[in-house]
Amino acid sequence: MNCAPTIYIHRFTIHNSLFTIQLNAQRYELKATKGGLIIPNLSYKIIIPKELELILKKKDLKKEIINKFASHVSSGKVKFYKKYGMKFVMGEREGSFIYDLDGKKKLLNLHCNGGVFNLGHKNRELIELLKNSFEYYDIGNHHLISKPRAELAEYLSSLMPKDLDYVIFGVSGGEAIDTAIKVARAYTGRRKIVSAKGGYHGHTGLALAAGDPKYREPFYSSSSDFVQVKFNNIDAMEEVVDRRTAAVILETVPATLGMPIADKDYFRKVKNLCERKGALLILDEVQSGLGRTGKLWAFEHFNVVPDIVVLGKGLSGGLYPITATVIRKELERIFRKDPFIHISTFGGAEPGAIIAKRVLELVSESSFLKSVNAKSELFSLYFSELKRIYPEFVKGYRRLGLMMGLELRDEYSGPALTKSSYDNGLLVVYANNDKSVVQILPPLTISEEEIRLSFELLKKSLKKAKFLRYLIKFI
Ligand SMILES: Cc1ncc(COP(=O)(O)O)c(C=O)c1O
Repeated sequence: MNCAPTIYIHRFTIHNSLFTIQLNAQRYELKATKGGLIIPNLSYKIIIPKELELILKKKDLKKEIINKFASHVSSGKVKFYKKYGMKFVMGEREGSFIYDLDGKKKLLNLHCNGGVFNLGHKNRELIELLKNSFEYYDIGNHHLISKPRAELAEYLSSLMPKDLDYVIFGVSGGEAIDTAIKVARAYTGRRKIVSAKGGYHGHTGLALAAGDPKYREPFYSSSSDFVQVKFNNIDAMEEVVDRRTAAVILETVPATLGMPIADKDYFRKVKNLCERKGALLILDEVQSGLGRTGKLWAFEHFNVVPDIVVLGKGLSGGLYPITATVIRKELERIFRKDPFIHISTFGGAEPGAIIAKRVLELVSESSFLKSVNAKSELFSLYFSELKRIYPEFVKGYRRLGLMMGLELRDEYSGPALTKSSYDNGLLVVYANNDKSVVQILPPLTISEEEIRLSFELLKKSLKKAKFLRYLIKFI
């Protein structure tokens, strides 16, 4: 029978995995082990306050999750994050912040998964809407006519210019790009697709083929039907677009290429070229659409109307995956003979359609777009200040609304700033196809105070990144 006296712990401090408790003016160190807490030289039964128990559980849980992830999801990712001392498991999240599962690290999210969290993490209004939608709806049936899908498509069309009137729903951005390319090919009866070097459209079949060799070659997905040219160079485009070309596909602002902003007339010229050759223009606004650039659609900055627009990420409200391929009315005729030649079981699932419609209502409000532009101006002031403080390291910045990139010294600087920012509590990610640029994509709902905090954290992180850069160069 265990007759050990019971001790109630009321105060404790934690340092790494050591827990210090105080009993009658005496301090004891406790060690966390798999079996619980060990208290050396004492045979007391210990009652741990709820709070401590929670921290202990979370700590073990984090380790367990990392191991499970390494064994069953991706050993490479775990190795990568261990190497850079970035063992973060996404736990709580709220507004502009995400927290590590053990509750110890808090990151201000200036990446937002490329715009998935345009409206912040766990947007309360959208969560309520989603919950309520389940009272009546489920996924729905993609073979049948659907009210939420019809209403979303009608509303989305009303926000698009000219005759961009039809919407094909999908689940992922890659799927939506594949659909856009399928439509262009079926409509023109041609195979050739022209895209930008360093552009990124996803990792599904046709999207992958339109992307860079490093992603497609390991999967034997290269094809002579896909040609890449330099972005924002109309001469290069003129050389390859011909009468075999079905479509030119471009990101309006290529995020993975480090947010280069095209010349004002670039897209207009590309569209004219497409018209002359009988090809279509597809604009990928998976990241740049939905108010991100301070206009509802990024192409509005360039006085052009594409034949097809692709939307994803933020359309989900960060809660329910949904993507859209918006096509000109005329293009819809390819589905008339057989409307079932393209289907997607979960594309435009009904709860997702309800969320997406509300997202569109929110981001298309003129006051919302105005606030995006005001926040962009504030970031601009701070970026200029960073450039002034670190003239050798910060070369400049790129910015269209809140789609922004910091141009740094070289390709080691982007990863260095990503790591030092992480250490300082800021989530930013370097552009994978131009590592000298760090992408800055805050939630569009970010507050002025959080923008000021971003600046302070970036200032601190840049200082460290200047030195970290040498380390990154040699590992
Ligand atoms: C511009 C762009 N297009 C397409 C995609 C593919 O989207 P998804 O990952 O949802 O397939 C992405 C994803 O990052 C993207 O940034």
